[in-house]
Amino acid sequence: MSVQRILTGIKPSGTPHLGNYAGAIRPAVAASQRTDVESFYFLADYHALISTTDPARVQRSTLEIAATWLAAGLDSDRVWFYRQSDIPEIPELTWLLSCVAGKGLLNRAHAYKAAVDRNNAEGEEPDAGVNMGLFNYPVLMAADILMFKAHAVPVGRDQIQHIEMARDIAARFNHLYGEHFVLPEAVIDENVATLPGLDGRKMSKSYDNVIPLFAPPAELRKRVFSIVTDSRQPGEPKETEGSALFQLYQAFATEAETEAMRAAFAGGIAWGEAKQAVFEHIEHAVAPMRERFDALISQPERIEQKLQEGAARARTIATPFIAELRHAVGLRRLDSVTATADQPHERTRAKPQFKQYRESDGQFYFKLVDGDGRLLLQSRGFESPREAGQSVALIKQAGAQAVQQGALSEAAKLAEGVSAEQLAEALAAFADE
Ligand code: TRP
Repeated sequence: MSVQRILTGIKPSGTPHLGNYAGAIRPAVAASQRTDVESFYFLADYHALISTTDPARVQRSTLEIAATWLAAGLDSDRVWFYRQSDIPEIPELTWLLSCVAGKGLLNRAHAYKAAVDRNNAEGEEPDAGVNMGLFNYPVLMAADILMFKAHAVPVGRDQIQHIEMARDIAARFNHLYGEHFVLPEAVIDENVATLPGLDGRKMSKSYDNVIPLFAPPAELRKRVFSIVTDSRQPGEPKETEGSALFQLYQAFATEAETEAMRAAFAGGIAWGEAKQAVFEHIEHAVAPMRERFDALISQPERIEQKLQEGAARARTIATPFIAELRHAVGLRRLDSVTATADQPHERTRAKPQFKQYRESDGQFYFKLVDGDGRLLLQSRGFESPREAGQSVALIKQAGAQAVQQGALSEAAKLAEGVSAEQLAEALAAFADE
């Protein structure tokens, strides 16, 4: 795989707020416009089920979140945009991963640990009120990511541990069954605002301090004016550091505007005046999106159609990949040749694989690694992924021929430090492709 893949999910639980927009949706939509990456965005509706048992709410949130992303400018023709629950391969992969994920690993997940700590503090059974969905949440999330071989997962800090778990689980699976998964990395954008809510704490549904993204203007204004400030009077200098109002302003203003507001704070701007400026900036950013959002919400069948198309596309990846994984773990047709080929109690030697990637020099490379990850062949740099891909195809073809013609020791000379046997074995794997 030569192009960087980024993937992120958003849990449709409740109405989207400004914090979701500034922290996740806005940067994701900006990233989706880059041409050097392939972006995957999906509605994590299975994940939503761990925190609500209200079906109407799940459906409504899914609609609202989908409409929000589209209204915010996500181009569903360019990116992979789908709903998690339309991809049955994801829960299937969740099970395969569950069988290699250590329970001890999941015991350490922050959300689960917090629930246990709360129970202990309250003198309850440690697992009181904890469902298996909450416990398994990181495994489902790993399946979301690993299914599409994402390299980079843009998330908030609270999700870093989940990405690390996905890496752990993927590495363990790869170790047991061969190199099937790409190990993902969390990407934390330092410039992305974590918005404070009305009370100054992080804006979050769980704190009930949010400003809904598409609140009508009057309500938006009311909420902004309810942001907690101190009792400093007009004319008294005000600190920007730690000011929720200032941070909100910054999230919706240019750098120059932000500097001007910083000066106004130092110069003693009245809180009411600052609030009015914050309201106006947010309204300016949100108004055109709100209009698109309202139009989309009133035609749910259009959104449904887009999601269906997205799922069909996503499954062009997921369906063959899950077949590969089923085969890897031994969920196979009984009449397939390999059923008898494996030694009992001995794991299948994973196939050698060609890997394509891009280096920091901007060039495209490939290498051939054996089932244990040892390097067998290393390419030179190519200008484009297509050239690298063509070269891989040629080698596969030549390798297959060489195997048939018994010309392997010749081929092995091309690869320094690789024995004829190693290369023979590697290339033989492609002989029947
Ligand atoms: N857990 C994420 C959140 O609550 C949502 C999510 C589900 C996700 N699956 C994912 C994020 C995969 C990134 C990648 O915000």
